[in-house]
This record gives sequence, structure tokens and C-alpha cells, in this order.
Amino acid sequence: MIDIETVRRDTAGLQHRAHLLACGSAVMPDAVLSAVTDHLMLEARTGGYEAADAKAAELDDVYNLVATLIGADKQEIALLESATAAWCHAFYSLELKPGDRVLTCQAEYAANYVAFLHRASRDGIVIDVVPDDDAGALDVEALEKMMDDRVALIAITWIPTNGGLVNPAVAVGEVARRYKVPYLLDACQAVGQMPVNVRELQCDFLSATGRKFLRGPRGTGFLYVRESVLLNTEPAMLDHFAAPWVSSDQYQLRSDARRFENWESSCALRLGLGVAVSYALSVGLENIQQRAWGLAGTLRQLLESKAGATILDAGSEHCAIVSFAIGGRDPVATVAKLRQQGINIGVSNPDSTRLDSESRELPVVLRAAPHYYNTEAELDQLVAGLIKLEKV
Ligand SMILES: Cc1ncc(COP(=O)(O)O)c(C=O)c1O
Repeated sequence: MIDIETVRRDTAGLQHRAHLLACGSAVMPDAVLSAVTDHLMLEARTGGYEAADAKAAELDDVYNLVATLIGADKQEIALLESATAAWCHAFYSLELKPGDRVLTCQAEYAANYVAFLHRASRDGIVIDVVPDDDAGALDVEALEKMMDDRVALIAITWIPTNGGLVNPAVAVGEVARRYKVPYLLDACQAVGQMPVNVRELQCDFLSATGRKFLRGPRGTGFLYVRESVLLNTEPAMLDHFAAPWVSSDQYQLRSDARRFENWESSCALRLGLGVAVSYALSVGLENIQQRAWGLAGTLRQLLESKAGATILDAGSEHCAIVSFAIGGRDPVATVAKLRQQGINIGVSNPDSTRLDSESRELPVVLRAAPHYYNTEAELDQLVAGLIKLEKV
């Protein structure tokens, strides 16, 4: 059970606004903010290198914390500045030759799909999209039928940016393992809202951000690389941190996933990420999922029954992201007006998930994502706010 009052007391950002946009950027616990600002103060007072030395143990522990969060080992974690950076490091490290097939999903995130297109034009890879089942989630049977010797990668988004869909990431992992094909999972929207275990997922690479459901600072993300894959995976670019310069004509690639990092990084943000992960672990990922998904379910009912909204979430299982439309309402103006009322929600544009948006003919959709720290009263506030708005 989550002690909601304590959790809310721990977060100054929740005192004055109804923040219902954890899928965009959630509100940091005060302890996360302090970890970031305290370190910046330390850098200002003692010097950047000196501050890093003083916090060396805490900085190192961030790898342990992230590994614990996703059931990995410390050496399988690279800390990066965003989920996209993490995903791209993995994707561009893969040797793909002309004719190699990459299987992806209908709800794939824009940044990933643009990278597919880039390598289709540069390297001649073939992008094949696994169709959805009748409910709108990736169809695992269809995926299995698409497998052949030319499939060089399965890369899918677990939970998309534009709604409550939860793709069957574990079942996809089983197919990937059976066919011995690398599996790259975009878990950006999953991490922090539910338990995530890379061994259960059987993925080779997993990318995620800090700022969404994990409640970390902006500008943080991480990449998991399975240890056995690491040995055969060379990053697309290296520096002297990823691969120390050991003699004038030689470098030595690091043996851990930090071969995907560069020498320079924000210590302050990393420390903030570590505190965010500790916080999530102490609340409990099962507890978080139960409450956040429960609140989202309540919100869907309220939106439909009271605000005349159409819920647009695909799939039969729905997570904490609620996508919806209200006839005649301009979504962007709606978000702006709600913001003036102290209520934060967002939109998702069709070009963030173009395949899904085109096949379902989605407009710009409204997007709300309650987290475990929200209350039923805030859901009512959102619904009342929507009802109050005249046509905008
Ligand atoms: C499914 C998904 N993948 C990747 C990203 C990119 O994350 P970042 O902005 O941290 O690179 C997002 C961001 O919205 C996302 O929703």
C-alpha cells in the first residue's frame, strides 16, 4: 500500500497543480531535486572534478540502482542523456547489411522509425511492420509467421507515446530467443510505471528515460545491454572513455555497457536519477502499477461518462496513459486552457506514431497520465475542467 499523503508531502510540485502528465515528464520528488541542486552547489563551491570525486561512490551506485530496477547486472547498464540516445546507441551498433529485415510494430515511436528509414536508405535494410491483432496490440502469431533467415532484428515499442496500449513484450522476447534474433525494446514509457525485468523480457537491449514515470530529472536516460551481447557489440562511435587509448596506435574497448557512454556527463543529473530510482524502488513497482493503472481506469470511465470523451487507447490491457478526443475541441487549445486552470495534461501528435495514427486515422489526441501520486480528486478536477471549457 502506498502512503499517498507522505508521497505527496515529499513533492512540492504536487502542491499547486494537478499534474497528470507522467508520460510527458512526471514531477520529481523533492529529494531528486535536492540531489541535483546540492551537487551543482558542490561543483560551484569546490569545482566540478572535486565534486565528482567527493560523490564517486554515489555516482557509481546509480548503476547498481538502475540494474536493480530492471533486474540486470551493473555492468549491463550505460547512463545516457535520453531514451533516444540510448536506443540509437544500440541500434546503430548493430551491423545490418542490405536485405536484412528489421521487424517492428505499428505503434513504433517516431525517433526509432526515422532511424529505421535512415538505415533503409543508407544500408539497404528492409523495414517490416508486424500487424496488430483485433484489439490493436502487436500480433505475436503474425510476428512468428514473419520470421525467416533475413530477420536481423526485432525492435518494438512496449508502451507507445500516444496511449494506453501495452504490447506483448515478453511474448515477443520468446520469439526473438527461439529464432536467435537480437531484440531491442523501447521501454521508455514502461520503466517507472510497472515492474520491468530484462531476464523475463529476454531482450538484448532496452532503452528508457528518467523523466517520465520514473520521476527523474530531464536529460537522463539509460541503456541495458545483455552481457553476452556486449562481447560482440561495438558502439557506432567511441571516445577515450568508451575505449581507453592504451598505446599510441591502440584503444581497448571497455568490457561493460559503459562502452556506450562518453567521458563527459552531468553528475548532478545522474545523482538525481539515482535518487529517483531509489524512490521508485521504495514505493514498490507493483504498488505503483496497481495505483497508476487503477487511476487511469477510473479516469477513462469519468472522461467517457461525464466529459463526453472518446477513449482512443488500443489493446485489451491498458496502462497509465489515457488518450482521448472530445468532439469539436481543439486539443492544443484545450491543453493550454487547462494549464491556466492549474491542470497539466498534453497532446500526442500523429507524427509521433505515424503508422498507428494513419491506420486508425487519429487526430492530434489528448493525453493524460495519472501517476501513483495523483488523487481521485485531481481526476475529478480534470473532468470538471474539461466540462467547464467552452468550445475552444
Ligand atoms: C515510446 C517512447 N520512446 C522513446 C521516447 C523518447 O524519449 P526521450 O525523449 O527521452 O529520448 C519517448 C518520448 O516520449 C517515447 O514515448
